[in-house]
Amino acid sequence: MKQIIKTLSWKHDFLEIIDQTVLPEKEKYIKLFTIEDVYEAIKTLKIRGAPAIGLAASFGLLLAAKRSMGKNKKDFYCAIDEAIEFIKNCRPTAYNLFYGVKRLQTIVKENQDLSSEEIVEKLEYECMKMFRQDIESCAAIARYGEKLIKNNMGILTHCNAGALATGGIGTALAPVYLAAKKGKNITVYVDETRPVLQGARLTMWELKKFGIRAILVCDNMAGFLMQQGKIDMVITGADRIARNGDTANKIGTYSVAVCAAFHKIPLYIAAPFSTFDFSISDGNKIPIEQRDKKEVQFIMGKRIAPYGIDCYNPAFDITPSCLIAGFITERGILQPDKISRLTNKKK
Ligand code: MRU
Repeated sequence: MKQIIKTLSWKHDFLEIIDQTVLPEKEKYIKLFTIEDVYEAIKTLKIRGAPAIGLAASFGLLLAAKRSMGKNKKDFYCAIDEAIEFIKNCRPTAYNLFYGVKRLQTIVKENQDLSSEEIVEKLEYECMKMFRQDIESCAAIARYGEKLIKNNMGILTHCNAGALATGGIGTALAPVYLAAKKGKNITVYVDETRPVLQGARLTMWELKKFGIRAILVCDNMAGFLMQQGKIDMVITGADRIARNGDTANKIGTYSVAVCAAFHKIPLYIAAPFSTFDFSISDGNKIPIEQRDKKEVQFIMGKRIAPYGIDCYNPAFDITPSCLIAGFITERGILQPDKISRLTNKKK
């Protein structure tokens, strides 16, 4: 599949990303020169989506390591430790961030006999390897997931789990892109995804770019669409998957899953192994990011609620594994009860 969206590109001295906060009005690319720039970009959703966050955070650490190159070894390690603590506090839910940081931490630990310059070289190699692996995982998810899609299907998706959320062609949208490429006639229904509208702004933008038939709906329409028989399958991405298959994804996914179960419509979660957190037993232990109440009070900068009211803004919810038909991963389609025996170690 052709990579027509460059969500992030590593340019040796800086990371270039497409600014997702100004899409779809503007296609603007910005340069991130420091770990502080990367932190700010992740925090403010200029770059978002679990796999893309994981890659950006890893390149952020690389930028911090580059900045400290040439310092004595003790100061170099101190700077790396500080950078790790800093970036880990960026967004708490997407496991890919912690997965990426852990891989780089292992490189530092295993190469203590090398100079800081040589360690930085190894870190850069590892970042590029993770980038390649993410692209390959998306392609494999496309191949496995495409087989589930039949001609004339209506597919519902929530949030954005496409090219904009990964280094490759996406997770939930990857099977859709391949099915369309193979000539299957499909319609994608896209939840707008309040509060910050990743569905309306980002998923619709990229589906249009790929020439996929897509219909935007408000979040509260999904149940009715299912009742009307328009939806044959739901595919979403994931931010963190616990050992028992409970899955954190964008707020609203759980409501969609409950509706889908009621209507006997299969819901698949498409995600690479870098999203699986095998260290936690179940969804109750997944930290849920709480975001600024302003995201609920405003839509695209316009206040929609009275002054002085209270709001609640959890960015993710947990879909219990019993509502999930299967996980579309780079290692095939897995049933929730099978994943506890696997690990996310990659070579
Ligand atoms: O807050 P966001 O936009 O980072 O949330 C993103 C999602 O919930 C996606 O569905 C998830 O990360 C999967 S991305 C391949």
